[in-house]
Amino acid sequence: MSRKQTLPLDQILHGDALEFMAGLPANSVDAIITDPPFFMPATHYQSRVSWQRNFADLSPLKVFWTEVTKAAKRVLKKTGHFIVFSNCDSYPVFYEPMYNHFHKLTSIVWNKKHVGLGAIWRHQHELIIAARGEEYKHNQTGRLYADVISIKATRSENRDHPVEKPWQLLRFLIEPTTLEGDVVLDPFCGSGTTLLAAKILKRHFIGVDLNEEYVKIAHRKVLGISNLDQFQEPRIPTLQELME
Ligand SMILES: C[S@@+](CC[C@H](N)C(=O)[O-])C[C@H]1O[C@@H](n2cnc3c(N)ncnc32)[C@H](O)[C@@H]1O
Repeated sequence: MSRKQTLPLDQILHGDALEFMAGLPANSVDAIITDPPFFMPATHYQSRVSWQRNFADLSPLKVFWTEVTKAAKRVLKKTGHFIVFSNCDSYPVFYEPMYNHFHKLTSIVWNKKHVGLGAIWRHQHELIIAARGEEYKHNQTGRLYADVISIKATRSENRDHPVEKPWQLLRFLIEPTTLEGDVVLDPFCGSGTTLLAAKILKRHFIGVDLNEEYVKIAHRKVLGISNLDQFQEPRIPTLQELME
């Protein structure tokens, strides 16, 4: 039996990310692209404003993320990529274990082209950490992928998940790092945006989420779609536009 046959290809499952990854074969996945909870298991974080503020408060998140990173390193092929959304606080926590376990890291900025909430500086961007294995694969599509990606955020009234990403953004992460037929895993898949983008790009996908409601939504959103022609490609910018 080949390695791919032992993977639950094109499935979206209800469960815990770490437990699920522990059951996957080593060196079996081409890319892990995910948008994890930033404060888990430090769920008290948002309400601790009156506490003495200390970076060590984030240590539960660091322990958790170190385990996720080790699991990702084990299941990814050496040619693989581990790409993770973060924010200002989780970025430094996620960065260190990823730096220690992967060959090279790149920061990518998602410009949401929309100003959100925030005191003094209102949020318009998110930070993405892109880590790669020592024999990393680069899909040479002939297109240009800048490390600032400008894609409109999904409007709140169109979201099935409170922090749902637009699938077009995921395309910019999946396309240059994987080939058709490759396997993309999202162990914190939420409403399934990464999986939808993988399906549109003819990659295999595997999704997991702890929340059963989101798993149901992802099933509808990803497995329920048969006509992929309805998804128009976002236009890839020209070199001149990138330089402006
Ligand atoms: C930031 S959201 C992902 C949103 C997704 N990118 C989308 O576009 O819908 C993170 C998800 O991680 C899930 N989650 C939290 N802890 C988890 C765990 N231990 N294992 C698997 N999923 C978990 C949450 O239920 C949540 O849906």
